[in-house]
Amino acid sequence: MPEQLDVTDSVLDQVDLNTFRSVMGSLPTGVSVVTSVTADGEPRGLTCSAVCSVSASPPLLLVCVKQPSATLEAIHQSSVFAVNFLSADMTALARTFASSVPERFSDVAWRPGERTGAPLLGSTVALAECILTSSHLAGDHQVLIGRLVHGEASATRRPLAYWRTQFSDVQPQGLAG
Ligand SMILES: Cc1cc2nc3c(=O)[nH]c(=O)nc-3n(C[C@H](O)[C@H](O)[C@H](O)COP(=O)(O)O)c2cc1C
Repeated sequence: MPEQLDVTDSVLDQVDLNTFRSVMGSLPTGVSVVTSVTADGEPRGLTCSAVCSVSASPPLLLVCVKQPSATLEAIHQSSVFAVNFLSADMTALARTFASSVPERFSDVAWRPGERTGAPLLGSTVALAECILTSSHLAGDHQVLIGRLVHGEASATRRPLAYWRTQFSDVQPQGLAG
């Protein structure tokens, strides 16, 4: 059984926000839009790079969402969310879902997910419909664990990547060796 390390502020080295951002920003990520639906049936979504595979059996993934967030509120109301893995040509959409625009879905093609009702965007690299299984407070974010109940992946589309505050395309290097 793993043990929780008991650390207090006095034994922690203080690292400033810029250092944290430049260190973590050095890790290239994919870019997703995490979506959900409010109790009134309104779509919500935000751009999210903190997405990670957790378990294969059962199939679990995690997303980290900052508090407060309208999308986070909707996820807790509906207990479902979808992760839409953006394609390389979806930079504008990534910016819209990271902006303060209230009507983020008005110019976007989407449909309610078959299993969850969470919004699924068109032309993505992959999508994952999830049931929320647990949430954990971690600093100013919540770590949300979801169980995959429906997934689709494109065999041809290429992903949008994010590295050191810039969006980019991924260039495959071909087969190794
Ligand atoms: C490339 C990129 C990645 C982001 N990743 C995350 C993330 O992992 N978690 C998060 O909470 N916000 C992330 N954001 C910021 C949110 O998209 C942004 O704060 C959004 O406006 C929050 O929407 P909401 O509060 O209305 O739900 C990211 C933004 C960008 C541009």
